[in-house]
Amino acid sequence: MHALNPVHAGSKAELYTELHVQARALLEGERDPTANAANLAALVYHALPELNWVGFYWRRGNELVLGPFQGKPACVRIPIGKGVCGTAARDKRTVVVPDVAKFAGHIACDSASASEIVVPVMRTVDVLGVLDLDSPVLARFDADDALGLEELVLLFLHATDL
Ligand code: SME
Repeated sequence: MHALNPVHAGSKAELYTELHVQARALLEGERDPTANAANLAALVYHALPELNWVGFYWRRGNELVLGPFQGKPACVRIPIGKGVCGTAARDKRTVVVPDVAKFAGHIACDSASASEIVVPVMRTVDVLGVLDLDSPVLARFDADDALGLEELVLLFLHATDL
């Protein structure tokens, strides 16, 4: 089994720098999308604090369909444009939700989730899916998380035949 080193870093930027080093090592030598998405979800789930769900949804026509994840069982299909995930996929941008109770149309999979961030997984202009992180803590995610996770998704795309 791959060693999962706890990420101990000062600033959030340092934390993401260390996470990227671990992710690059974890994905090196493997290009299978299921294997890489599953391992990346597990790495993020265990390396970053205050998370209760991390996973991928893949675009299948006008829907997002559940992919590899860590956390409680989740909603399987989300229409593009619905919920936080469908909004990120439709608008092709990262969506940060400080309080999911205040996001109209939020889809509650785990009642413990209080805040959420969704990053689109894109090749040029095509949305292939999204990476979704949920937290039991309000306002857990900010612009530093958005940047760090967008760079992680780019690393995943470069490392994977998707
Ligand atoms: N909350 C998401 C649904 C997916 S779960 O959080 C795993 C949404 O509103 O799209």
